[in-house]
Amino acid sequence: MSLLTGVSDFFGLDIGTTAVRLVELRGGGPVKPLVRYGYVPIDIRLAVSDSKPDQQKTAQVLKDLLVQSKVTSRNVVVGIPSQRVFTTLVDIDKLEGDELDKSIKLQVDSIIPTQASESKIDWVVLGDSPKDQNKVEILLTSVPNEYVEGRLDMLESIGLNVIAFEPDNIALTRSLVAPDATLPQMVVDVGQNSTDIVITMNGAPRLTRSIPTGAGAVVKAAMQNLNIDEQQAHQFVYKFGLSQDRLEGQIYNAVISTVDIMEAELEKSIKFFANRYQTQIERIIVSGAASVMPDLPAYIANKTGLSVEIGNAWRNVSVGSAQQNDLMALSPYFGVAAGLAERNE
Ligand SMILES: Nc1ncnc2c1ncn2[C@@H]1O[C@H](COP(=O)(O)OP(=O)(O)OP(=O)(O)O)[C@@H](O)[C@H]1O
Ligand SMILES: [Mg+2]
Repeated sequence: MSLLTGVSDFFGLDIGTTAVRLVELRGGGPVKPLVRYGYVPIDIRLAVSDSKPDQQKTAQVLKDLLVQSKVTSRNVVVGIPSQRVFTTLVDIDKLEGDELDKSIKLQVDSIIPTQASESKIDWVVLGDSPKDQNKVEILLTSVPNEYVEGRLDMLESIGLNVIAFEPDNIALTRSLVAPDATLPQMVVDVGQNSTDIVITMNGAPRLTRSIPTGAGAVVKAAMQNLNIDEQQAHQFVYKFGLSQDRLEGQIYNAVISTVDIMEAELEKSIKFFANRYQTQIERIIVSGAASVMPDLPAYIANKTGLSVEIGNAWRNVSVGSAQQNDLMALSPYFGVAAGLAERNE
């Protein structure tokens, strides 16, 4: 690792549930030219397994991705799935420099769900607490060492040099949220097994949550309630979504209670945020399956009363016109990889 200049070439890597994806950009400006991107589908079962043979299978898929996308850099910034990260906001007594760090270290065991000695812990001071003038607000994250070390071993085994790990939801805010947004923004990414929620204010995440209901649960609800196979259910869900006038609303009726589980969590987060900061969210930016299931964005807008926008993973990336169409079609699935690649290392 270079101390003064940073790493000039690296790529962002999203090891998702349904695919592995990478993005490489050039330069350090606010809009960076795309160098390379690529994705390879992966067996859904690998994402939840930490066993050695399964890590080796993941490594093989990653090798295929590196070859296919012709990436030459070995330096990589890797996303950590939100289900593996514990993130919380804490208010802590105002103290100067070292004293604040010491105080956080002393309290950390009572804040995080795992042993501090067995976790990688990180925090940033966001500013004064909105609740108490004598305290500062801290965003604290922790990841089990075991998970990070497993990933490191796997990535090093295929010759990669990990320069950073970053939670998926932080990467998403970098790629999808306008950096100059003055009002709070909410990002909702519906993945295969989970939905990530992040609310940002003044450029920093204030609330992050991961809900264990994702696109897979919606497809499963269609399967069970309509008595159809998975492939058919997948087709119906992505073709008709929450439209009430297609197939006489059958898909809507089959999946709506599952969608409402997700939606209720969005509303809870919106209320929590409004209550803590006494301010309203300007818009919801959707990505992942939430941006491709017909009428889902409109449903969320209707329920929450907020305007809903489809996220563009390439909003900070300049793209040649020949690639434009391909990339737009992939935008729903590339928010994490693009955000990781946009870090200024
Ligand atoms: N290129 C694609 N075309 C059609 N559907 C897709 C495509 N890529 C992903 N999907 C579907 O969209 C859903 C969400 O995809 P997404 O890429 O956000 O999930 P993921 O990143 O693999 O999952 P997670 O974030 O939970 O690890 C999945 O159910 C997946 O089957
Ligand atoms: Mg994902």
